[in-house]
Amino acid sequence: MIIKKRLYSLLAHNTFGIDVEAELFVEFETEQELIELINEGLKPPVLVIGGGSNLLFMNNYSGTILHSRICDIQTVEENDSEVYLRVGSGVEWDTLVEYSIANGMQGLENLSAIPGEVGASAVQNVGAYGVEAGELIHSVEAISLSDATKKIFLQKECAFAYRNSIFKKEEKGKNVITYVTYHLRKKTEYRVAYGNMLPKVEALGGLSAKNIRTVICETRAEKLPSPSSLGSAGSFFMNPVVSATIAQKLKERYPDMPQYNTPDGGVKLSAGWLIEQCGWKGKQIGNVGTYPKQALVIVNHGGATGAEVLAFSHAICKSVKETFGIELHPEVNAIG
Ligand code: EPU
Repeated sequence: MIIKKRLYSLLAHNTFGIDVEAELFVEFETEQELIELINEGLKPPVLVIGGGSNLLFMNNYSGTILHSRICDIQTVEENDSEVYLRVGSGVEWDTLVEYSIANGMQGLENLSAIPGEVGASAVQNVGAYGVEAGELIHSVEAISLSDATKKIFLQKECAFAYRNSIFKKEEKGKNVITYVTYHLRKKTEYRVAYGNMLPKVEALGGLSAKNIRTVICETRAEKLPSPSSLGSAGSFFMNPVVSATIAQKLKERYPDMPQYNTPDGGVKLSAGWLIEQCGWKGKQIGNVGTYPKQALVIVNHGGATGAEVLAFSHAICKSVKETFGIELHPEVNAIG
């Protein structure tokens, strides 16, 4: 069923908890309904949202906000060692992770308890604890907003990179993702090298997708605010990547600075560490602050506006730039 609402509050559709309205809010449950909507014409500008876990609304939204309620999960191919799971873009991300583990599939466990929906997992290439969704995506189905035709993007066409994909670049704003097909495993091939995950998983009785999920859920609950209790969009900034030469110079000056080599020869720094060193951890200005347990997360202590959050984030960027000479780039999309 198609649902259309006018002057609709977006409070339940952005984890930051910013209280703004959409001029038009439209939801669909099938690809066919989406095609009908596009053919009828949607009042521009059109913004496609998922769970709203990476959005910062600056004002009321004039135009149409489109949200998928395509929520089916189908096994399209399966053998003894692997499964192809085609998942509606409106399925809640963690529902998919839980479903896959309950059905003996493996691969998504490290990505447990991430807020958001399946469609956005492909746009954002969500990642945590050594795994990125893009590694497990076989293909992405989308409907073009310009002519309602169907497009299929195979994994290699999605240009997945750290918190990035073709859907944030060349294809930005052009499509509505309807299904994502994940290529999951049945054999055990776990990734537990991140931090001290392995001993925690072993303490639960050994390596299994279920035990990894338990450890990840506990780790996230310890470090990150739950959007239901404190508004945030998770990490506000991306971790910056610098050249090996710059990383070496920084290491000489700041021996404790965490650094991680990336496969393409760059060095990833911890934005959270940089922000903490600049004195921002747990700091609050008005209604906005950083989370006391993870400085990379900007939180809404209640009643914050998009402009307040943005001003706070700019102040953080300025101090990191002045102290370390490093530019931070937001992971969160400011709208309007
Ligand atoms: N650190 C600090 N102070 C802080 C936060 C972090 O010093 O306030 C340092 C610590 O040295 C820590 C290191 O940074 O060892 C890494 O911290 P953490 O494991 O919390 O990871 P992160 O790099 O801060 C990234 C993702 C998170 C993801 C975690 C775990 C980005 C932008 N963020 O954070 O993703 O959960 O790794 O894999 O890549 C999200 O995108 O919303 C998100 C939560």
